[in-house]
Amino acid sequence: MIPFDFESRTRIVFGPRSLERLGELARELGACRALVVSDPGVVAAGHTERGMRTLAAAGLAVQLFDAVRENPSTDDVQRGVEAASAWQPDLLVGLGGGSALDCTKGVNFIHSNGGRMQDYWGVGKATRPMLPMIAVPTTAGTGSETQSFALISDAQTKAKMACGDKKAACRVALLDPELTVTQPARVTALTGIDAIAHAIETFVSKRRNSISLMFSREAWRLLSAGFSRVIDQPSDLTARAAMQWGASLAGLAIENSMLGAAHALANPLTARFGLAHGEAVGLMLPHVIRFNGELFQDWYRELAEVGPAASRASGVDAAGGLAEFVELLLRRAGLAARLSCRGVTEESLPALAADAARQWTGTFNPRDVAPDEWVRLYQQAF
Ligand SMILES: [Fe+2]
Repeated sequence: MIPFDFESRTRIVFGPRSLERLGELARELGACRALVVSDPGVVAAGHTERGMRTLAAAGLAVQLFDAVRENPSTDDVQRGVEAASAWQPDLLVGLGGGSALDCTKGVNFIHSNGGRMQDYWGVGKATRPMLPMIAVPTTAGTGSETQSFALISDAQTKAKMACGDKKAACRVALLDPELTVTQPARVTALTGIDAIAHAIETFVSKRRNSISLMFSREAWRLLSAGFSRVIDQPSDLTARAAMQWGASLAGLAIENSMLGAAHALANPLTARFGLAHGEAVGLMLPHVIRFNGELFQDWYRELAEVGPAASRASGVDAAGGLAEFVELLLRRAGLAARLSCRGVTEESLPALAADAARQWTGTFNPRDVAPDEWVRLYQQAF
């Protein structure tokens, strides 16, 4: 057993049509005025209005801020803070994908504690209490609903800032798998691969412990089996539920063990070349698994044993088998397998590597990565 210090801060309510319980859950928190943070795609799908109706039916006054964009920046957060200042809510509801949930957390930091997003880059920088937040994810990916980090890009430098604080953890994660059925196919693929990367990276991280391993292992079991099913049959609610719960479990794993080199390599690709987070993570993950596998074969073998048969290597190279399985999933989902296909230039690799080496998340990778190895990992993916 590896020691751990675990405190669950988030109530998790899971089940089809559980969105109908949003108003009741808000009332249980004693809320009277809710600011709902969402994005235009989720509003168009009708989920936001349904959520707002249940809040109003429970007697809450409700205001909507729906201008969240993908990969939210400090500008998006600032606009949300202005909406919060005008409305003075006693509850924040993030209703949307990971971007909407992260933006809600960002708004909460500044509305409750003042200053600017950069002040909260790192862990535990908020000094005052924060508003209660309910997260209603409409994608199965980031696991933002079950962890206390907001990933916000600096609008000027494009740096992706991980701002974490226990007070930013959601009071309730409301998981209704029916909401994830309306995701566009590409969003299903991108968010699903990201969640799979969370399960794998947390399972081998330097901070792994008995509780995080439990979350990672179950997340991997659900996600590795569910991914192909939601790609092939988008309306399969059982598979959607497996992906949504798996992504939330992976979020719990992140909260308790952090991530690794695939995320460190992905962030500069998003900052410099605009790659979607899931695509960037998916491109780098197989190479990181092989790199780590040179030292940590047994850990990847343990994962493969609870995954689909296709993730198990026929020989001794368990990490290689797992990496090939991830590549198979990328192909099935129509995602890029090479950086060169996504507009990344070979000349940029050293600068990308320098950025990757500075990513905090990379410090939790089980194998230390030398400066030339960051470049090599990009070259292998090129
Ligand atoms: Fe991620």
